[in-house]
Amino acid sequence: MIIVKKIGVLTSGGDSPGMNAAVRAVVRKAIYHNIEVYGVYGGYSGLMSGNIKKLDLGSVGDIIHRGGTVLHSARSEEFKTREGQQKGIEQMNKHGIEGLVVIGGDGSYRGAKALTEQGFPCVGVPGTIDNDIPGTQYTIGFDTALNTVIDAIDKIRDTATSHERTFIIEVMGRDAGDIALCAGLAGGAETILIPEAGYSMDEIAERLKKGHERGKKHSIIVVAEGVCSGVEFAKQIKETTNFDTRVSVLGHMQRGGSPTAFDRVLASRLGAHAVELLLEGKGGRAVGIQNNKLVDHDIIEILDREHTLDLDLYKLSKELSI
Ligand code: F6P
Repeated sequence: MIIVKKIGVLTSGGDSPGMNAAVRAVVRKAIYHNIEVYGVYGGYSGLMSGNIKKLDLGSVGDIIHRGGTVLHSARSEEFKTREGQQKGIEQMNKHGIEGLVVIGGDGSYRGAKALTEQGFPCVGVPGTIDNDIPGTQYTIGFDTALNTVIDAIDKIRDTATSHERTFIIEVMGRDAGDIALCAGLAGGAETILIPEAGYSMDEIAERLKKGHERGKKHSIIVVAEGVCSGVEFAKQIKETTNFDTRVSVLGHMQRGGSPTAFDRVLASRLGAHAVELLLEGKGGRAVGIQNNKLVDHDIIEILDREHTLDLDLYKLSKELSI
């Protein structure tokens, strides 16, 4: 039974490719059920200042293939306070909004959780390139970011081979190693450093030296930003082996670009599922995907869980890069 008539949608935190596809799904799914949808512009900052506009079918036309977010995004310190959250609730009450879909990562979920605890129903949709949200196997944007990184690794490999150099490629991921691990495995990196597993500098130095001895003079090392910076790691290599390296920090390019088909489909499914939950009056949930099936969990419980990375994949990457 449908019990809400107006919902809102916002994107928050670091943007990710596929957020637009998720916004589109929220808007169209709601309108399909004769529910009004309001777009909140600029994340929680926009919510507090009332930057809220009604969306129609056309508002989300021609965006499924675009990176970034048409609703814009922000990180807000003020929204972490109860006063900030109350300001947001007042704005939504003013517009008659009865439920909110929050598309974002960990910080965005914390905001959604706080609103829910204060009686305002929210549903979280995992949108972040980091793939670090518990309760879902994949987050929206991870697959696209991964492909961006693989493309960069392939290109860097060309020049690394020509010049017989060791390259260190620093990738994003906050405290999670998912981007580094999957991109490193898919890009054939010789060494992958992730926060979830320690590393031995002696072992890495030994591998580099052995490679040199058997004539392999180029090498790709992928470092997750959660381990250390690429520059810092280059220093450690120099100190231990005296090898010169080149460092590439891929940075924010990892967050841009047209979403892959995988991310567009994922975003469409998760966005629509979030609306279904709100329409049934279910707030305080976080949607996700497990074994290709849509799931939802208590948003409070999700935030208490730890993100886990597939360490078998890490073991495999080591076995294949001997
Ligand atoms: O969470 C997404 C992310 O891109 C992380 O990978 C990175 O650590 C962080 O955001 C960078 O944030 P900002 O764009 O605020 O510098």
